[in-house]
Amino acid sequence: MSETIYLNGTFLPKEKAAISPDDRGFIFADGVYEVIKYYNGKPFRYDDHLERLERSLKEVQIRFEDLAVFENIFSKLLEENRLTEVHSGIYLQITRGAKNRVHHFPEGIQPTVYAFAFPLPSFTENLERGIKVITREDIRWLRCDIKSVALLPNTMLYNQAVESGAGECILIRDGKVTEATHSSVLAVKNGTVITHPLSNLILPGISRKVILEICTKNNIPVEERNFSEKELYDMDELMISGTGSEITPVIQVNDTPVGNKKPGEITRFLQKKFFEMV
Ligand SMILES: Cc1ncc(COP(=O)(O)O)c(C=O)c1O
Repeated sequence: MSETIYLNGTFLPKEKAAISPDDRGFIFADGVYEVIKYYNGKPFRYDDHLERLERSLKEVQIRFEDLAVFENIFSKLLEENRLTEVHSGIYLQITRGAKNRVHHFPEGIQPTVYAFAFPLPSFTENLERGIKVITREDIRWLRCDIKSVALLPNTMLYNQAVESGAGECILIRDGKVTEATHSSVLAVKNGTVITHPLSNLILPGISRKVILEICTKNNIPVEERNFSEKELYDMDELMISGTGSEITPVIQVNDTPVGNKKPGEITRFLQKKFFEMV
């Protein structure tokens, strides 16, 4: 069965889709995106994702206001691709559109809107056993708060993780842990959950937000503060979070085990509460 995608107002088989070579998404990576998880056909934190999309669009000055159209588009994509009864994801990308290549933002340009649905099961083994990560210098730009499609640094760094047999790459800027290539990073020390504060240096992760809400509700102390790579090696527990990775325990950083090299008690508690919500 061929995959049905959505492109600029039309549902069509993926192989029939055509995008202009002048599209600024292709030429300049001039666009933003979102990934939303659907648990058995039901979106998780839909409004948070749409709010973040609206903010990304505003920050890069792409004018696209009709965000209300997406709920039905996404449902139809899940139906057309027979994904309503399983865990799945929606990928949505909006680029500035196509126009002769100029560096400034052209007038009278129509954004390109592309969305597709895909199976997104939980990575059960990772969730259970935890993963190993590597660390690398955070070589990304200074607007990591925008969910931009310009992900070459992220892919270069993640590729190094894959080549080292690791599940993620934790990023270090000026000696401090920011986040990972496609997930947020949270640590536990003496019962307190610690994570980088929201700033231009990290994406405001929605799973991160959910975890902090769970902590507050359950009287787990939270510190949104910087911590150094040195501190990272001394944490009691470590986890990454994201729409795809949910809450994945980290049991080894480079060659150093985290705690007793088993997912920690607070990580397990947060996973339990998280999966009760979805
Ligand atoms: C750089 C980065 N940080 C964090 C996250 C986690 O964000 P969320 O929990 O909203 O999926 C992502 C997800 O793609 C990401 O790319």
